[in-house]
Amino acid sequence: MSPCNDTIIIETRDLSREIARDGTIFKTVDSVSYRFNKGLIHNIVGPSGAGKSSFLRLLNRLDEATGGEALFYDRLLQSYDPTELRKKISMLFQTPYLFPGTVRDNLNYCCAGNQKLDAENLLDRVGLKPEFVNKDADALSVGEKQRVAVARSLVQEPEVLLLDEPTSALDPTSSRRIEELILSLAQGLCLTVIIVTHNPEQALRLGGRALLLVEGKLIESGSANEILTSPSTEAGRKYINRELA
Ligand SMILES: Nc1ncnc2c1ncn2[C@@H]1O[C@H](COP(=O)(O)OP(=O)(O)OP(=O)(O)O)[C@@H](O)[C@H]1O
Ligand SMILES: [Mg+2]
Repeated sequence: MSPCNDTIIIETRDLSREIARDGTIFKTVDSVSYRFNKGLIHNIVGPSGAGKSSFLRLLNRLDEATGGEALFYDRLLQSYDPTELRKKISMLFQTPYLFPGTVRDNLNYCCAGNQKLDAENLLDRVGLKPEFVNKDADALSVGEKQRVAVARSLVQEPEVLLLDEPTSALDPTSSRRIEELILSLAQGLCLTVIIVTHNPEQALRLGGRALLLVEGKLIESGSANEILTSPSTEAGRKYINRELA
């Protein structure tokens, strides 16, 4: 671990979210307590419907918790202005959404007229050539769009990237490139990455930490290697043997 990893950047304490479904109260996230280290990659894994996306959405207040608490640098998430918080804790989705216009327009989206925006440098960080800057966003492949979406979020200098299955719409080669990008952002910029992935092999390639969620609960956490190759719980073993739905 490098010195940047010593800080706890996000901490959840019994974080929960209840929703009403079919007349009963149902916990999509059930008392999750975890400390996320700055600059590390954290893989959220678990079967479909385990609450992975629901948990991620609580971390930048896209949804509000109904119980417990979450802290960003020792301050409750609720004490931050949601818009400011989302610049620091930035979310990217499975399908990248770019605005109509050029790549430069997209990079400039947050701060139109920003004379200091170094679009070429941003593109270089995400592995795209400078000539991409004038391309029409619509003309890009999904993998290229995902890179531009990452570059656009970097304009705001986020400290945490929340990624919800960012490669599931991509072919294997583009997925690997995004994985390399994620690794380089964590190592080079000390960005904290919290990534939901359906793919245990991907979590192993990314390394860092893993959190296994089942039915909204945090069942196991530890190094990605440990959780995905030698889990200590029955649910963990079932998960890696693909016996959980
Ligand atoms: N707004 C909502 N209304 C009703 N049910 C919801 C809502 N959001 C989530 N759920 C339910 O909460 C549970 C957790 O959903 P969530 O999308 O967080 O799971 P997930 O682990 O991300 O699943 P997947 O791997 O399929 O994306 C599911 O049973 C889902 O149906
Ligand atoms: Mg999901």
